[in-house]
Amino acid sequence: MHKDIKEILITEEQISAKCKELGKIIDKDYEGKEVLLVGLLKGSVPFMAELSKHLNSDVTFDYMNVSSYDGVESKTLVVKQDLKEDVTGKNILIVEDILDTGKTLYNVKEMLLKRRANSVKIVTMLDKAEGRVIDMKADYIGFTIPNAFVVGYGLDFNERYRQLPYVGILKEECYK
Ligand code: XMP
Ligand code: MG
Repeated sequence: MHKDIKEILITEEQISAKCKELGKIIDKDYEGKEVLLVGLLKGSVPFMAELSKHLNSDVTFDYMNVSSYDGVESKTLVVKQDLKEDVTGKNILIVEDILDTGKTLYNVKEMLLKRRANSVKIVTMLDKAEGRVIDMKADYIGFTIPNAFVVGYGLDFNERYRQLPYVGILKEECYK
């Protein structure tokens, strides 16, 4: 285990089993349809790779990098890197690492609907249900986790720990 990790919350085996389980459900829901996976950079990359192995529907990939800002206008979404694909008429499945306050996914979903996507659904690896400040639900959830800061499997602290094959809690001294 990495020296900075206090506790492993979700193991690699649990994540891969969950991806298989979610993949089956998603495949069924999108049967006979094309689906555009929209991964939110950078955190969703390992989860999207693992989940997509279990999708037998007609799947294409795209990515975007966004941030949601708190402040005067709490619903401000900054698009740092946009999609390469035109989403008009497409069935989109947003792939996210973690749903916390709900602002990021709320804003991204609104934006894709405004761009006239046919449908927009969300799959998130983790759901920090207690963190919610706006009403936002994912359509598919890997694991509901307590309100702790987690890293690994794509999730970072100052860009570190994304490579860890598990989701874990950082030691307190590493926040300093
Ligand atoms: P919302 O808008 O739902 O955004 O608050 C979720 C985004 O917040 C980040 N986030 C975390 N990143 N460990 C992380 O590494 C965490 O525990 C955590 N909680 C929230 C993350 O970037 C996510 O996309
Ligand atoms: Mg993220």
